[in-house]
Amino acid sequence: MRRYVIILVLVIVSTFLIHTWLMSIGLFPVEASAQSVAVDQLFHVHLWMISFLFSLIMVTLLYSLLVFRRKKEDISDGAYLTGNSALEITWTAIPLMAVLVLAYAGAKTLGAIQIIDPSALQVKVTAGQWYWQFAYPEYGVSSTDLYLPVNIQVDLQMTSVDVIHSFWVPEFRVKQDILPGRTVDLRVTPSLIGNYKVRCSELCGLRHAYMEGPVTVVSQADFAKWISQQQSAAPPSPELRGQQLSTSYGCVNCHSIDGSKKTGPTWLHLYGSNVKLSNGTTLVADDDYLKTAIISANSQIVAGFPANVMPDFSTVLDQTMVESLVAYIKTLK
Ligand code: CUA
Repeated sequence: MRRYVIILVLVIVSTFLIHTWLMSIGLFPVEASAQSVAVDQLFHVHLWMISFLFSLIMVTLLYSLLVFRRKKEDISDGAYLTGNSALEITWTAIPLMAVLVLAYAGAKTLGAIQIIDPSALQVKVTAGQWYWQFAYPEYGVSSTDLYLPVNIQVDLQMTSVDVIHSFWVPEFRVKQDILPGRTVDLRVTPSLIGNYKVRCSELCGLRHAYMEGPVTVVSQADFAKWISQQQSAAPPSPELRGQQLSTSYGCVNCHSIDGSKKTGPTWLHLYGSNVKLSNGTTLVADDDYLKTAIISANSQIVAGFPANVMPDFSTVLDQTMVESLVAYIKTLK
């Protein structure tokens, strides 16, 4: 009996020590959304359980190793145990209860963080290799920055143009995979003004690790100001717009503008040059060639480059955007 009491006391002390350590190593970024509070409550329950179970196992193991070690000269066999029904029922019933309680708490939290506010701000999110694009259809604004007003629920309607990506702002806690050909919703209510980052949390190719975008949570007044600034900004020249598109849609990740070789052909001195295709024909890189190359890359693969690498931009870029990109490529002489 004395040994059980000693083990119990050691387990309790160890649980508190490990929990204190886990809470001190910065596992949690700041809570910046209404949803994060409920998610963190679940995490905190888990941290207590982790601390307790680790202590229960390790303390018992180490205690037994030290106290019940074989004495010198003792070569007798250990006790022969054939089973212990009471113990087996206990170690089945307690974990079963724990799992049921956690399942209930998890389902309740999931319900709480998915509550729909019909007046939520609509933002269309487009993910692609390797960029984020955000559009505010109510205001006719689109941006590579995600600007959000504080304390207003935002309904992120997300789709991917190529492979599976995943929207994750650690400070918001919630996370959602984004699938090509489908629109999935994620609702979040930012609660803390500040600068954050959206990261892609699904391995999506070579530059997955760099697929980040700025997220700025501002006051409602500053958000209205930002929207009107975006609306009144003079439309840039086609060349400048093309340059912006080449970064926001990730073109320059594969096409250099300084002549160096990347995944795709360089854009430097491209316009007007002779391009040798993998099928043996040679074309002049005029407007038509470039437009086709942008929206239907596989129809004219340049010799020395693999097919099926460039994403399909035919549903992503409209006519004007393609023309802007061509205008920009023309300036790279
Ligand atoms: Cu997109 Cu990883």
